[in-house]
Amino acid sequence: MKHFLKTTFALLFAAVLFSACSSELNEGDDLPVAPVLMGAHGPGYVLFSSDNFHGNDISRNLGWDITGCQDCHGVDYNGGNTGQSCNASGCHVVDDGGPEACYVCHGDSQTKKDYPQWYTTHGKHLEGGLLSAVTIACSDCHNLPVNYEDPIHLDAETPGKAEVHFMNDLAATVTKGRNGDASFDAATTTCSNVYCHGNFTNGNNVAVNWKGENQAYCGSCHGQAEGNPLPGGSHPQVENCSGCHTGIVNEQRRIIDRSRHANGVLNVFGNERTDW
Ligand code: HEC
Ligand code: HEC
Ligand code: HEC
Ligand code: HEC
Ligand code: HEC
Repeated sequence: MKHFLKTTFALLFAAVLFSACSSELNEGDDLPVAPVLMGAHGPGYVLFSSDNFHGNDISRNLGWDITGCQDCHGVDYNGGNTGQSCNASGCHVVDDGGPEACYVCHGDSQTKKDYPQWYTTHGKHLEGGLLSAVTIACSDCHNLPVNYEDPIHLDAETPGKAEVHFMNDLAATVTKGRNGDASFDAATTTCSNVYCHGNFTNGNNVAVNWKGENQAYCGSCHGQAEGNPLPGGSHPQVENCSGCHTGIVNEQRRIIDRSRHANGVLNVFGNERTDW
């Protein structure tokens, strides 16, 4: 953990104290003219639009480690000797954990939802998509830290890079045609042998790239080509899915019940099957 020198603080503390953190502040012009800003951190530290915005400083220069801020702003982030409280800034909410609240770095400060946004793939898994309503929790793919300072959380060796551990039961669903265990390769950010992506009887068992585009089009998990989901192998070679998979798909081959598609259970002739 990186801590700042107290002596540096003593020098900086002589500077004029000023705080104007607000999510509306995007332009220098939005700031009140007085008192004169003599920033300990340089100009723009509170402005989203600034290259010197503290969020940028924390991610680019500090390896996301905000514990050093406590040296001057207090262990509770209520200001310490600076008198500049993060929690009274209008941006951070003490009841949520102040600057350590999960949504500050992994989500949406307006809705307070934990939602990593760097890759859209997270959204599909956390909230479901057009083809499936199945949702997967953070703890199914990552070791979930209990708080910001949990030792399993940030690691200095690979700052900004999350560790992935598959612990999801659905991804490990067993069928007669299964090949091997679900796994994640961090070097290529690719998942393999995942049930949901076709590791099942007559499925395509595709390797999917977390950071790739269009990794789950119709026909990718099961079927022969883009847009044709008819499984090969021992599956009946009859195109009219809705005739046999009633209630799941319509005559236009649109999924009409997202809660029963890619949910670990095969729906055919009105039955639920796990023996295929
Ligand atoms: C060495 C002491 C020190 C450390 C460490 C420190 N600050 Fe500050 N900070 C200050 C002082 C003093 C002020 C008061 C205003 C000023 O002089 O800029 C301040 C003000 C601020 C402001 C108000 C904006 C401004 O420029 O007036 C923000 C935001 C801020 N600090 C965030 C942080 C963050 C985030 C960290 C950790 C990455 C941090 N500070 C670490 C001393 C420090
Ligand atoms: C100051 C920013 C920040 C805050 C606040 C924060 N995180 Fe993180 N978190 C990160 C970064 C950066 C990573 C990337 C992992 C690394 O560096 O090892 C990460 C990684 C993760 C991961 C992926 C697994 C891992 O550790 O690699 C999970 C899950 C996670 N955080 C959950 C949380 C939860 C839950 C909270 C609230 C209790 C939280 N985070 C608060 C910055 C933050
Ligand atoms: C379906 C599995 C899955 C779920 C669910 C999931 N993640 Fe991830 N997460 C990943 C993968 C895969 C990566 C990419 C890792 C890499 O780059 O090596 C990742 C990356 C991350 C990163 C690094 C930054 C980024 O966006 O790439 C953070 C932080 C993170 N996850 C936190 C979370 C949190 C917090 C949750 C729950 C709100 C969550 N994840 C849910 C699989 C998942
Ligand atoms: C004539 C009836 C029939 C039609 C039409 C049909 N299926 Fe099936 N489907 C079945 C049966 C029966 C099974 C279970 C096979 C078994 O026991 O392994 C099945 C299984 C499946 C499976 C699981 C993998 C497998 O092959 O066992 C998928 C995926 C699937 N069907 C998708 C489709 C899609 C998509 C269509 C339309 C393009 C379609 N099916 C049309 C009868 C049908
Ligand atoms: C992300 C992978 C994936 C994609 C993409 C996908 N499916 Fe499936 N599909 C599955 C899985 C997994 C099953 C196995 C049964 C289950 O778990 O619901 C399945 C089963 C089916 C079945 C059998 C009924 C059932 O759900 O049990 C039909 C019909 C079907 N899919 C139609 C489609 C159609 C139509 C599309 C494109 C619009 C499509 N699938 C795209 C993963 C996928």
